Amino acid sequence: MTDCRICAGPLTEFLDLGAQPNSDAFPRPGETDGEFFYRLAVGRCGSCTMVQLMEEVPRERMFHRDYPYVSSGSSVMREHFESTARQLLATETKGPDPFVVEIGCNDGVMLATVSDAGARHLGVDPSEGVADRARARGVRVRTAFFEEATALDIAATEGRADVVYAANTLCHIPYLDSIFRGLDALLKPDGVFVFEDPYLSEIIERTSFDQIYDEHFYFFTARSVRNMVRRYGFELVDTVRLPVHGGEVRYTIARQGARVPTAAVAELLADEDHKALAEPATLERFAAEVRRIRHNLTALLTRLRAEGNRVVGYGATAKSATVANYCGIGPELVSCVYDTTPAKQDRLTPGSHIPVRPSGAFSDHYPDYALLFAWNHAQEIMSKEEGFRAVGGKWIVYTPEVRVL
Ligand code: SAM
Ligand code: TMP
Ligand code: ZN
Repeated sequence: MTDCRICAGPLTEFLDLGAQPNSDAFPRPGETDGEFFYRLAVGRCGSCTMVQLMEEVPRERMFHRDYPYVSSGSSVMREHFESTARQLLATETKGPDPFVVEIGCNDGVMLATVSDAGARHLGVDPSEGVADRARARGVRVRTAFFEEATALDIAATEGRADVVYAANTLCHIPYLDSIFRGLDALLKPDGVFVFEDPYLSEIIERTSFDQIYDEHFYFFTARSVRNMVRRYGFELVDTVRLPVHGGEVRYTIARQGARVPTAAVAELLADEDHKALAEPATLERFAAEVRRIRHNLTALLTRLRAEGNRVVGYGATAKSATVANYCGIGPELVSCVYDTTPAKQDRLTPGSHIPVRPSGAFSDHYPDYALLFAWNHAQEIMSKEEGFRAVGGKWIVYTPEVRVL
């Protein structure tokens, strides 16, 4: 049996998504030999309730010079991070020379606003390619994995931080003990750690099982976060539900006794109890729903192809690696996937080897059906691609259930 990465309690597996590749490793055509695979399965800790992957993929395999995900690819996310930056500057930086640190700053989508405001800041990101993009827009970045040693070094050389922020990054980091020891060293006595990640409750309600992939190691709830941070002398003092990336929660963490938790924390904890959110029966029901979606999606795609339709994918998301490899969807069912990310184009999707094409080419030759892998950007994509519907094209979604729109 595997032990919980937070508290060493016993993990019980509830969903096995099979052999999976690195979700962001897009091989070139002809270079698919030697692709890395691991077993993607999820379990729940019987002691602290944390839901987590059963197997850990080495971090250097995922985050490196060629990590292809760029945060600024979505206009909705650009706006989200601009307003987040303004809010953090307004509410969490009160002294004369505030210092803002971001873990996983990627291409600087959030810190660019902090930098433009003239505030002292530092991003930490191990992926050099995206870090260089951040630097090009005036953001200071250390190319490193944030962990205790990095935090100690930043505190020693640049001073302590008013706020440390992390979006869609903390859930990527199995070694949270090192992170929280680092935060303890880096944050000022009244400093806060603010982080946002996909919310387990939304994943279960939407059956968005594609949120489960190598990079998403933890699936947080208010309860599991509260239990976790207490181990390191911190307290969960605020929670905010966010609509982005299929439903997230922004958690604010302060030192124990430094802030009075808001009513929102108690409300979210009560809501989770009411839903029996991370209880074994709920997770088993979710797993059964996932198996039903796999059956329905493969049946639909097989029928559409047998009827002679051209079916493509839209958005070569990391999430889509889970769907394609778990459901056995390859180029015979979905002939190509359109995506805006240059580093993914003219390559093949991980494991499933579907060619990735620039999204600008989608309208050159509209398909009959487009499987919307980037369902979390549905509004943005469907309005951009209105012409597809206008010529009779149909979107397929698979969460919360398989539907043709
Ligand atoms: N914050 C951005 C956003 O929300 O769009 C980027 C999210 S991206 C999914 C995750 C980022 O975390 C990547 O740029 C990756 O290189 C970085 N990352 C992974 N492990 C990290 C660590 N230990 N310290 C700092 N950054 C890390
Ligand atoms: P994400 O779900 O992790 O944000 O990834 C979204 C992917 O979808 C990323 O590879 C970029 C792609 N994409 C498009 O191709 N067109 C779009 O309009 C948007 C918003 C994203
Ligand atoms: Zn545990």
